[in-house]
Amino acid sequence: MAIREVLKMGDPRLLTPALPVEDFASSRLAQLIIDMHDTMRALNGAGLAAPQIGVGLQVVIFEAGSNPRYPEAGSVPFTVLINPLLTPLSDELEEGWEGCLSVPGMRGLVPRHTALRYQGFDAAGQSIDRSVSAFHARVVQHEVDHLRGILYPMRIRDLRQFGFTDTLFPGQNLQDD
Ligand code: NI
Repeated sequence: MAIREVLKMGDPRLLTPALPVEDFASSRLAQLIIDMHDTMRALNGAGLAAPQIGVGLQVVIFEAGSNPRYPEAGSVPFTVLINPLLTPLSDELEEGWEGCLSVPGMRGLVPRHTALRYQGFDAAGQSIDRSVSAFHARVVQHEVDHLRGILYPMRIRDLRQFGFTDTLFPGQNLQDD
């Protein structure tokens, strides 16, 4: 078990597109997923992408439901998603507040597709194919963006809707994402 350092915005590794995983049986992949899980849990995040800990592979993890910081989120099961493909199921976009462990202490209002299908593979190389909406769709889009070198501030349409969490939401005691 290892909690890894999360890179912060400004590090060029966060802007580099990640490469597909080719060897699902490698111990290196298994260790990466363990480290990502331990790091996300330690920081109480809803998701984490491999490039955030400096590994340029198409691996993301996410989970929400029991997370006290996302009481409205509904239930998103702990998921390891490798080599993801996203297909929007609606042209409709919805604005929602996001944060990111790589942009600590800040939140911004980000448009995302309200519903999408995601396909890919789990840690054992078994295929995943889910159609989701609402917060589940949002968190997947946020994490998969990391694999393309996109951080959520790059998607904010009105930069007046971007700021420090404790100023935007005083008294709510929200932690970093
Ligand atoms: Ni993020």
